[in-house]
Amino acid sequence: TWRIASLIERQVEAVRELVGRNRVICGLSGGVDSSVTAALLAKAFGTQLSCIFVDNGLLRKGERDNVEEEFTGHFKTDLHVVDARQRFLDALSGVSDPQEKRKIIGRVFIEVFQEEAASIPDAHFLAQGTLYPDVIESGANPDGPAATIKFHHNVGGLPERLGFELIEPLRDLFKDEVRKMGAELGLPDKLIWRHPFPGPGLAVRCLGEITEPRLDTLREADAILIEELHKADLYRDVQQAFAVLLPLQTVGVMGDARTYEDVIAIRSVNTEDFMTADWSRLPYDFLQRVSTRIINSVRGVNRVVYDISSKPPSTIEWE
Ligand code: XMP
Repeated sequence: TWRIASLIERQVEAVRELVGRNRVICGLSGGVDSSVTAALLAKAFGTQLSCIFVDNGLLRKGERDNVEEEFTGHFKTDLHVVDARQRFLDALSGVSDPQEKRKIIGRVFIEVFQEEAASIPDAHFLAQGTLYPDVIESGANPDGPAATIKFHHNVGGLPERLGFELIEPLRDLFKDEVRKMGAELGLPDKLIWRHPFPGPGLAVRCLGEITEPRLDTLREADAILIEELHKADLYRDVQQAFAVLLPLQTVGVMGDARTYEDVIAIRSVNTEDFMTADWSRLPYDFLQRVSTRIINSVRGVNRVVYDISSKPPSTIEWE
């Protein structure tokens, strides 16, 4: 870890020199890369760092609280949590096409982020957690599109358009080095090993129309799956696991009564690079526990199914 510690020192020096007394903005997503970026910059700048976290209402359970705890409680940054839940819901109202959802979420995200960034005076720099593999993905031009892929997968060229100078303190690093750096900076294990989560969030796991009650159902079911994975010490054995809410009802029976309620699908994959993936051979008794808990405690769900498709030809997400 001495190597990581000295890497952190060097980066801290370098960004301090670059930024001087200016204010730096860092967009936080709740994921590993943006969190490590923010933690590094918090070490360099303290409250001279303004973090922006957009609550789009499409987050997993507890995500916003965790970010607040980490970046105001632990790291004392100037954290701006923007509650844009209603705005996203309104924009998504009546939309069920997946690509349409992505477009809308990307557009509203830019608007909200831009408004918040504009309210922070004297900020010239925008930091983002681009890693080395993201730089390579961009192909010939390392300052091209990939620089912004990370920021929000569906948004291109954002920092430039907003008139910021970009800082990417992780751009020479691979994921495992970023995780080590996060640990060295004092980020909790749970965050460092967090599964990837798509920019459009629960919107692409809530198949069909997005409504607040449907998002709540999905969020509760997903939280149970994730909690059980941690409890069974299986979370780190799979690379991505989540719940999906299907756009249909099926018949069930409860006591003497017939029910006609929602279906939750569980998706869990093992993968090296997310380009190909295999479905996780999770133990039957684990799946049994998850199913029972979801059906017993999530209102309006009477059936749980497990996705046994590999990528390709299926994708990891359902939308
Ligand atoms: P698929 O579903 O294409 O997913 O097999 C591969 C990986 O990409 C993530 N993913 C997204 N990430 N915006 C993102 O930021 C998106 O629109 C998006 N779609 C898929 C997915 O979660 C998986 O890790």
